[in-house]
Amino acid sequence: MKVDTHIHLYDEKYEDIIDEVIKSAIDKGVKRIIVNGIDKNTSIKSIKLANKYDYLYVAIGLHPSEINSNEENDLSWIYDLAKDDKVIAIGEIGLDYYWDKTYNDLQKEIFIKQIKIANELNLPVIVHSRDAHKDTFDIMKKYQTKGILHCYQSSLELAKEYVKLGYFLGIGGVLTFKNSKVIKDVVREISIDYLLTETDGPYLTPSPFRGKLNRPEYISYIINEISNIKNLDKDVIEEKIFNNYKRLFKE
Ligand code: NI
Repeated sequence: MKVDTHIHLYDEKYEDIIDEVIKSAIDKGVKRIIVNGIDKNTSIKSIKLANKYDYLYVAIGLHPSEINSNEENDLSWIYDLAKDDKVIAIGEIGLDYYWDKTYNDLQKEIFIKQIKIANELNLPVIVHSRDAHKDTFDIMKKYQTKGILHCYQSSLELAKEYVKLGYFLGIGGVLTFKNSKVIKDVVREISIDYLLTETDGPYLTPSPFRGKLNRPEYISYIINEISNIKNLDKDVIEEKIFNNYKRLFKE
């Protein structure tokens, strides 16, 4: 059974084809799909989707790029939405210094608050980190929790540190890109016991579908690549990753 721990299925690009996308994924063995919200509105949409389809679960949270000074920084909605049985994680949360540095401090503050909420609710976190490798690591180290570094893009050195702390690394379509040397090294060196698979759809479509809409069924291309790099059978990879999913998430 394959797992996709990170996708944004409420995106309008899926709107007209959602039944087919989900059916096709399930037919191809993707038996766990975590829809990740990026704010209150998309978290609600994710819960609605998950209550409509089998095998779908939800992460709710406030994404760093959605944080600005005008934003209502009250996070009490997370407690309310977390009551739904389909909610199994807090995400997508984290730090993103790529676009705008104005709110870096506010991002950190809200990231930490959401980790504390996750710990309180005994839920793992799904973490986004872009151009913020050190700050993300420092926070994940200081505020011990459990969870995934989604679409892992940092160094092998840092990957080893994360694994020491018990965190999982989310491996997605980037692994299939020709020039993604660092992430290939990470997959080679880090134990399969700490890897999870994800699409991050609609973004980061794996090769050979780059430029097209990303779909959960493409998880098989990521598994193929992990299998090649680690020189392990695809079925073994699939089973190990499913076990990792079960270790981290309580449905
Ligand atoms: Ni995402």
